[in-house]
Amino acid sequence: MGKGGVGKSTLSALHAISLSNTDKKTLLISMDPAHNQADIFEKKLGEKPVSVKDNLSIIEINIDKWIKRYLRNVQNRITESYQYLTAINLDKKFNVLKYSPGLEEYALLLAFEEILKKFKSYDNLIFDMPPTALALRFFALPKLSLVWLESLLGLRKEIIEKREIITKIKLGRKEFERDNILNKLNVLSHQYNSLHERFRNRENVKVNIVMNEDRLSLNESQRINQNLNRLGIHTDRIYLNKVSQKSVTSDLSAIFKDIPTISYSQADYPLIGIDALNKYLSEND
Ligand SMILES: Nc1ncnc2c1ncn2[C@@H]1O[C@H](COP(=O)(O)OP(=O)(O)OP(=O)(O)O)[C@@H](O)[C@H]1O
Ligand SMILES: [Mg+2]
Repeated sequence: MGKGGVGKSTLSALHAISLSNTDKKTLLISMDPAHNQADIFEKKLGEKPVSVKDNLSIIEINIDKWIKRYLRNVQNRITESYQYLTAINLDKKFNVLKYSPGLEEYALLLAFEEILKKFKSYDNLIFDMPPTALALRFFALPKLSLVWLESLLGLRKEIIEKREIITKIKLGRKEFERDNILNKLNVLSHQYNSLHERFRNRENVKVNIVMNEDRLSLNESQRINQNLNRLGIHTDRIYLNKVSQKSVTSDLSAIFKDIPTISYSQADYPLIGIDALNKYLSEND
């Protein structure tokens, strides 16, 4: 996580190289729709893993593809649930979906879930995230969806109960269990709940914040940390990047309490290509 341009992509790349150098099978995933890993590694990248060195492959998420896939899932779900609504033109309604807010984060979350399933054989997955706003929406989405789903579940139960009153037929537990829409809402709740819990699991998911020494980046990092905390997500480390030799690093431990801070110096050469990144790593261990 971090403000635009602080060095998230560069540090992700360095981290990925460093892990792969210790024989850990590593996959670096660019989640930022404005990808940079292809420039950093000087390689053409795409949705399929491209090997850039021993133990290190990279993929770039094609956000448009995932948005389309997400919309297709929604469309299928609506068609299945409302088969009886042949009189109204559902296609017209689907077109509106394309303009829904929040599609990017839904698409990223779908991609994230699929990547976890597909690349289980890797020792480490490193996600190079987009700048603050979209990344925070991504992390907040499971919790937000759960709030929505809870109200929808309540509404659906009310509908079933009203139906019971109207038909004057006593519906037992069976009727609730048979309700297709109620079941689908429960499946979605389960799915978002496990994603939310995954983000909160400090053993398996490490969320890091990258920042620079300037005040704007410090303020934004504090806000990111607070927002993550509100979601019950712990910040694992703070990376203070582009530290100049002259600068006296202010004491971040007073601000970020129990979160370890690691400094990375400002390189005086471009951090492009594996050789330059390896050189930087050897100078900065
Ligand atoms: N330690 C460093 N020393 C020198 N230059 C650096 C360092 N870290 C990053 N840079 C440079 O800063 C610029 C921004 O870095 P990078 O693209 O990694 O940031 P980012 O946080 O991923 O940006 P975005 O928010 O656009 O995704 C790049 O030109 C990169 O080479
Ligand atoms: Mg980046």
